[in-house]
Amino acid sequence: MKRFFNSPDTAAGGQQTMKKLLSSLLCLSLLTGMAGICGCQAKPETEPTDDNVFVIGFSQVGSESDWRVANTKSMTDTFTGDPEYELVMENARQMQENQFTAVRRFILEGVDMIIIAPTVEEGWLTVLTEVHDAGIPVIIMDRSVAVWDDNLYLTNVGSDFLRQGNLAVEWLEKETLKDAENGDESEDGTVRILHLQGTLGATAQIQRTKALEDAVTSHGNWELISQLDGDFTEAKAYEVMTTYLAENRDIDVIYSENDNMTFGAMRALDEAGISYGEGGQVRIITFDATKEALQYCLDGKINLCVECNPLFGPQVKELIEAYRRGDTIPKHVYVNETAYTAKDLTQEFVDTREY
Ligand code: AHR
Repeated sequence: MKRFFNSPDTAAGGQQTMKKLLSSLLCLSLLTGMAGICGCQAKPETEPTDDNVFVIGFSQVGSESDWRVANTKSMTDTFTGDPEYELVMENARQMQENQFTAVRRFILEGVDMIIIAPTVEEGWLTVLTEVHDAGIPVIIMDRSVAVWDDNLYLTNVGSDFLRQGNLAVEWLEKETLKDAENGDESEDGTVRILHLQGTLGATAQIQRTKALEDAVTSHGNWELISQLDGDFTEAKAYEVMTTYLAENRDIDVIYSENDNMTFGAMRALDEAGISYGEGGQVRIITFDATKEALQYCLDGKINLCVECNPLFGPQVKELIEAYRRGDTIPKHVYVNETAYTAKDLTQEFVDTREY
């Protein structure tokens, strides 16, 4: 394809590319009749690269978690070094507005495909319609978009977040039944659950929350004592947990919607002198199952790690190749995932964990 830059702006860097891109965008402003302040020619500063290169504009959510960093690496590793592809990544720093800007820039640049990992589900209809009208195919990855017309994207590849939530509540149900059989339940039999939520409106938050809320409704003795917004980050979770624990200490379970929030919560619990994990006051359920969380699980500090697999760059590439061959591709593709307790883990398994 013809475009106005030569090298990809990947997570690994790209300052040079950015300079060229900005210069080229200023040139574009000349072409569209806007103020010509840079004195550059209407002709692009750099020569277009090989027309056979398939250029992908990728709008990534941000770098809020270890999961996200691994997901970005999986995408860049998959495409970097393949002369047939160029992946141009934009980090939205967890702001949907930044994603709209990036997608519109990709349209202007005339990329061959756009991949979006949406921050939140709502609000995508206008910009996806613009991409559709420009004739550029779209893949939605990781989370989903809530648009009535699913012809606006080719496929949605990522996790089954509701299944992840259901794995967590099924495990908790078994544990609390065992407690009741062994006489280990709390005095009044209530299971007090503190819920740490990820970015509100993100599919990972919506579906994991749904699984928990449905389970609380169907278990008379489960009580949702509070829902705190941790925005999928360690810092925010530490902050909200510290504030919460200053007034409340009566917690049986923490259901934390990602590992980084769990690490923040553990720090706050340590500082408050509240025990957790195997044999502790608080059971901890976490999502992602990163290497660090699995190590805590093996060490007895986290009770359940529900896996959220970020390593689907190769699967995305296979879908793109199928699309380019003209094959029919499924509208929704889920990645394989499971859940781990300490008894499912060995040190060797944790040491060889890729993320
Ligand atoms: O959408 C996937 C979620 O987003 C992961 O659970 C979390 O760690 C990330 O920030």
